[in-house]
Formats: sequence, C-alpha cells, structure tokens
Amino acid sequence: MNNFDFCTPTNYVFGRDTELRAGELAAACLGNKILLCFGGHSAKASGLLDRVETSLRAAGVEFVEFGDIKPNPTDDRVYEGIDLCRRENASGILAVGGGSVIDTAKAIAGGVPYSGDFWDFWAGKAVMTEAMPVGVVLTIAAAGSEGSGNSVITKIDGGKKVSLRTNVLRPRFSILNPALTETLPAYQTACGIVDMMAHIMERYFSNTRDCELTDRLCEGALKAIVDLAPRVMADPADYQARANLMWAGTVAHNGILGVGREEDWTSHAMEHELSALYGVAHGAGLSVVFPAWLDYVAQFNSDKIEQFGRRVFGVESSAEAIAALRTFNRAIGMPITLAELGITDPDIPLLVSNLHDTKGPLIGNFCPTDPSASEKIYRLML
Ligand code: NZQ
Ligand code: ZN
Repeated sequence: MNNFDFCTPTNYVFGRDTELRAGELAAACLGNKILLCFGGHSAKASGLLDRVETSLRAAGVEFVEFGDIKPNPTDDRVYEGIDLCRRENASGILAVGGGSVIDTAKAIAGGVPYSGDFWDFWAGKAVMTEAMPVGVVLTIAAAGSEGSGNSVITKIDGGKKVSLRTNVLRPRFSILNPALTETLPAYQTACGIVDMMAHIMERYFSNTRDCELTDRLCEGALKAIVDLAPRVMADPADYQARANLMWAGTVAHNGILGVGREEDWTSHAMEHELSALYGVAHGAGLSVVFPAWLDYVAQFNSDKIEQFGRRVFGVESSAEAIAALRTFNRAIGMPITLAELGITDPDIPLLVSNLHDTKGPLIGNFCPTDPSASEKIYRLML
C-alpha cells in the first residue's frame, strides 16, 4: 500500500426533498449572487429548477440562469459562463444536473479568477490554485463529478476531450436526492451504471500490492451495483435501489476507492476519444471499451482479473470474468461493440493518434499502453 493524501471536503446532503435546502446551502457556501447552471431540458420539465429557484429566493440568494448545457460539454460554453460570471460579479456557482453541467460549472469556476485562457489548465500549461465555490444538485448517478475534483471538457477546435483533476474543483456541497433520477431514460440510467463501475475498475486494476481493504471496498461496491442494476432497470421508481446506486456513483469516484495505490484510466482515455470524435454517451462508450481493454491486458496480467471474476461475478477464469462483464452490460441494454454504439466505420488510426497526442506515448499503469497496443484494443471493439 502506497502513501496517500485523501481529501473530500464536499458536504454530501442526501435523501428525499433535499433540493429544498439548496438556498440555505448556497447562502452558506456560495455567497449571495450565483450563476445557476443547468442542462437542456430535464431540470425545467421536471419542476426541479423551479423548486431550486424558489429555495434560493427564500434564502435571499440572487441568481443568473445559465442553461442549455449539452452532454459532452464544450469549451465555448465555458468561455460564455466565465464572461457572464465576471459581468454579473457572481460569488459562486450552483450546478443542477449531471456530469456535463457540473463539469461546465467547475471549468467556469476555475476560469473566472484566472487572467489567462481557462484551457491552459486542461492543456497542462498552468496549475489551478483557486476557483469560485461550486455547489451541486445532482440529477443522474453516473459521472461522480458531484464528489470528484475532475472536470472533463471538449475543446471544439481540434476535438480534444480532456479531464482535469484538482482538489481545488471539489464541490463545497452536493445535494443527492435519489428520487430526482426516477425521470431518467433507461438508456441514461444504464450509461450511469456502466460509468460508475468503470470508475471503480480504473482504480481496482492496479499492480500495487497489499491494498486488501481498498480491494474489498471496490469489490463490495461493484457487487452491490451489479445486484441493484436489474432492480432499477425493471422498476425506475424503486427509490431504495436508486438511493443505493446514487451513493455508489459518488463513492465510486470521490477518491476513497483509489487510496494507497496506482490507478489506471486507460479505458477512460480511450473512451474520451470516442465521445470527442463521435459524440457518444460516455457510459455507453465505456461499455464497449472496458471489456476490450480487459481482453487485451488479460494476456499479460490476468491475476487481478481472475480475482475480480471470483469476487464480483463468482466465476474462475479471466475470460469468464470478462464475458460476465459483457453479459451484464448487454443485459442492461448497453452496447458491447463499436457498431452497436453506432460507429460503423471507425477511424482507428485517428483515434489512436488523438489519444496519444493528448495522453503521451504510454498510457495507464496496469499494463502501459503504446500506440500499437491502443490500436489492438480499438480493434477488439469491432
Ligand atoms: O440536458 P438534460 O435535459 O438535463 O438531459 C440530460 C442529458 O441528456 C439527461 N438527464 C440528466 N438528469 C436527468 C436527465 N434526464 C431526465 N431526468 C434526469 N433526472 O441525461 C443526459 C446526460 O447528462 P450528462 O450530464 O451528460 O450525464 P453524465 O452525468 O453521465 O455526465 C457525462 C459527462 O461527464 C463526464 C463525461 O465524459 C461526460 O462528458 N465525466 C465526468 C467526470 C468527472 N467530472 O469526474 C468523470 C467521468 O469519468 C466522465 O468522464
Ligand atoms: Zn467515467
């Protein structure tokens, strides 16, 4: 087990009707004038935005709306949000939505106090040391951005989708009402399930030895998700299953399941190139990428995959473990090939060159991946 620092300053406010506390929490943590970020449609249609705005007014918090943030969020909206925050002299940002809304809010938060181009942080040209405070009302259990220090933004010019990770961007508070996820389309629920499992597996497939507690926490969380998934897919209004999944999505990515060891993240990097080039939903992309990556690395490094198979799916070999993962993904309606993802003629050389341009010549730690290996892994998705 390696040395580690683990800091999650986020106040998680969990349960039914907790969005009614948005005003009180915003007044305490975000100041008295906020940018209110939301997505394309769902938060307005469900009445959530109205409830949040009523709560803000009651707490005396002024707000400026910044809506229509699209999935796989892009840099143009970040620049727009930075300008708006500066013009309005906002003191904080509240994100009402999923990963795309939260990540946009975080990028704006990091960009406002910085005199240069916010993309400098994502391009690795500058280190973020301060940000406006961000709060969250979560509407989908998936990306885990409500508890992470990550923000994933696509630069339209060049089509690069890049993740920045810094504790400076961890939300001050995250309101988690599982009932808000009951309006999700089945496809988005399933995408979220795949994504949270991937966040755990990116940390679990590690060569660092003697992390028994962290391994067992990962396996327990994965097993719980595998058991809960069919319940929410069969009955979207199963509050208890939604509640457990929502907390699983947060725990999967707030860092606690990675402590003490090297993490991998090759599958995420490979998926981000698919989302950037073809606009696919992140979780659906991971459903195709992760088993293909496992197929490839199992040739060199199979012990941990066998342990995963035994402890999560009750099977013996690495091949059975990977097959069980594919069967699970398919059972919740997720694709397992690029064609099923809607990418019938993938430009694999371009995916590989974009990937290594962004991430460097070698990616990941479990089985470091060079361009020739990346190409083989993309081909395993056909
Ligand atoms: O825009 P609206 O109308 O709200 O629709 C959204 C969107 O179409 C809809 N939705 C969300 N909550 C809903 C709902 N529909 C009905 N009822 C609700 N309660 O779901 C769709 C997807 O929303 P999005 O925010 O894109 O989903 P998700 O949370 O999966 O976020 C995906 C983004 O997060 C990034 C991904 O790459 C992707 O860009 N990630 C962010 C991470 C982080 N910051 O830590 C880590 C992840 O690995 C991931 O890369
Ligand atoms: Zn993810």
